[in-house]
Amino acid sequence: AATVRYEAENATISQGVVESNHAGFSGTGFVNSDNASGPYTEWTVNAPVAGTATLAIRYANGTTGARTADVSVNGTVVSAGRSFAATGAWTTWATSTLTTTLNAGDNTIRLTAANSGGNPNLDYLEV
Ligand code: GCU
Ligand code: CA
Repeated sequence: AATVRYEAENATISQGVVESNHAGFSGTGFVNSDNASGPYTEWTVNAPVAGTATLAIRYANGTTGARTADVSVNGTVVSAGRSFAATGAWTTWATSTLTTTLNAGDNTIRLTAANSGGNPNLDYLEV
């Protein structure tokens, strides 16, 4: 099926805000999570049929170290402490991809900050 883009600014955001002060994002902005462990951004993704899907997460990390996040699908962590490497600047965006299994119909995909720095800035999820 065709790739669908789900903007982070349209997702469910816990402990974070939509901002647009670092260029290069898609849509109208990106999500800046609080710099703490626990904030999350959660997308609802509809899959026409059950099966394997590729998740592409576009992010920026303008710090000098990696940020880590737990990626969960329908409440199950599928990638714990996933590393989002430094991108060199907040205006430099990178994509992290992983493969997972989705149900037919709606699926929730959540990225929860797993380190005290919070999530990287999040632009979108593509499935
Ligand atoms: C800076 C930057 C934010 C970013 C934050 C962070 O404040 O402007 O966009 O989210 O650093 O360290 O997470
Ligand atoms: Ca932040």
